[in-house]
Amino acid sequence: MLYVVVSIGCDKVAFWKKQKTQKNKVLPVHIGIIMDGNGRWAKKRGLPRSAGHKAGADNFRKIAKYCSKIGIKYLTVYAFSTENWRRPSDEVDFLMRLFKQYLEESLRDFKEENIRVIFIGDRNAFSEDLQTRINEVEASSKICTGMVLNIAMNYGGRSEILKAVKSISEDVKESKLSIEDITEQTLSDKMYTYNQPDPDLIIRPSGEFRTSNFLIWQSAYSEYLFLDTLWPDFKPVDLEKALDKYALRNRRFGGI
Ligand code: FPP
Repeated sequence: MLYVVVSIGCDKVAFWKKQKTQKNKVLPVHIGIIMDGNGRWAKKRGLPRSAGHKAGADNFRKIAKYCSKIGIKYLTVYAFSTENWRRPSDEVDFLMRLFKQYLEESLRDFKEENIRVIFIGDRNAFSEDLQTRINEVEASSKICTGMVLNIAMNYGGRSEILKAVKSISEDVKESKLSIEDITEQTLSDKMYTYNQPDPDLIIRPSGEFRTSNFLIWQSAYSEYLFLDTLWPDFKPVDLEKALDKYALRNRRFGGI
């Protein structure tokens, strides 16, 4: 992690202490974040829900860059679920416009940070225009070798598993695969995240205690952290606290 030392004395001591903490901390390789609480954040301020989504999108950009800076290898953010289409059409329309705007502007600086962007979920449901942008962003960031940023849009864990099952069934039907050879790995290989490690840590801000269909296959042994902070208020300092808590978890994966 890069810290700029602005003065000598106490600041410098704090700087070295922080470096040491960072170095000694066991970092998750893959973090998942359910970016929840935008609507409540806006309501608390007497603002329309769209203002909450805008603030949430700005925060997404900051946190993604921060994760990349501290050496996180994979970050998956839940931006729009398969169930979010049930929201009022003006909110869905606003979110679609926000995604498009982000694809046009903000994701450019991910490229500058060497962050590779991948979209997970069923993109066919989006407008042609948005699909084109999604494909372009993915293609142009293919050369990036830094953190992999999965943006889950029109994503649902159940529909991802269903897609995997259908694809395996096709393989069996076409005699490419025999039923005896189907393993857990066969399913993992059919997920959107097929060549990535499972998430080590999943953070859900906003005080809700649900997984909401997020990475349900991949999170069998993920460590969960449910926090009260609303997503737009979730700052790098909150992420650091979450990482401290994660570092103290004793992961046994069913062993002892
Ligand atoms: C959940 O909060 C949030 C969403 C459904 C949208 C999340 C989208 C963003 C943060 C924008 C990200 C932008 C890009 C380009 C990835 P909520 O609306 O359910 O909040 P509430 O529970 O307080 O009502």
